[in-house]
Amino acid sequence: MSPGKLICIEGGEGAGKSTQLKKLLVAFPDIVATREPGGTPYAEKIRHLLLIDEDGEGSSPQTQFALFWAARADHIHRFILPALEAGKTVVTDRFDLSTYAYQLCGKQAPGSLLALFWQMRQVYVVDMLPKDFIHYIYLDIQPEVGLERISKRKGEVTHFDRESLDFHQRVYAGGHEFLRSIVSTGSSRQDPNSYIIDASQAQYDVHKDVVAAISQILTA
Ligand code: TYD
Repeated sequence: MSPGKLICIEGGEGAGKSTQLKKLLVAFPDIVATREPGGTPYAEKIRHLLLIDEDGEGSSPQTQFALFWAARADHIHRFILPALEAGKTVVTDRFDLSTYAYQLCGKQAPGSLLALFWQMRQVYVVDMLPKDFIHYIYLDIQPEVGLERISKRKGEVTHFDRESLDFHQRVYAGGHEFLRSIVSTGSSRQDPNSYIIDASQAQYDVHKDVVAAISQILTA
């Protein structure tokens, strides 16, 4: 059996990831959904430490970096890899682009963590999973617009949501930088592994673009 694909849905706050995820699972009922931080019982405990525990808020970018990667390692080992090996396609709500964008860029981690990030990605992601396994769908929204959207929304607000506009602008730039980096360090083709979708469009148009991207990934 050929291994399934891993599709990472990424984007800044208010990009509409949750809504789009729900819709895509209806359109592709065989896809298995998961999320980061979390996705396994152990990684969900780390999620709690990062996002809900009151001491999470003042934690350093180095601490967060380590915890997000620890949660991801468990998620890959106990959930993603077995699912891919069983031939399933997995969609995850956030993945390593978020660590690059939030911890390295948003939180302005020391530059030395950048090299470590790419080493972690090599060891924890690239070496673990089948070749050409990973695809990113980035829901692109300007931080001003995304933050305005979440200010009107009810539900869970984390300390990351409450960060300044400057922070979210660095996160935004970081997400794009990550996508450019995986192209230059990865395949020689234009950009086979990632799709940037304009998330300021109407929900239905975003959904159409997401469906088109996934259909292309699944038939590649
Ligand atoms: P969540 O409530 O799932 O928010 P969202 O709907 O924005 O995905 O919270 C996840 C938060 O964790 C989000 O603010 C982004 C942050 N995060 C990081 O800072 N680094 C990471 O590596 C990941 C996966 C998430």
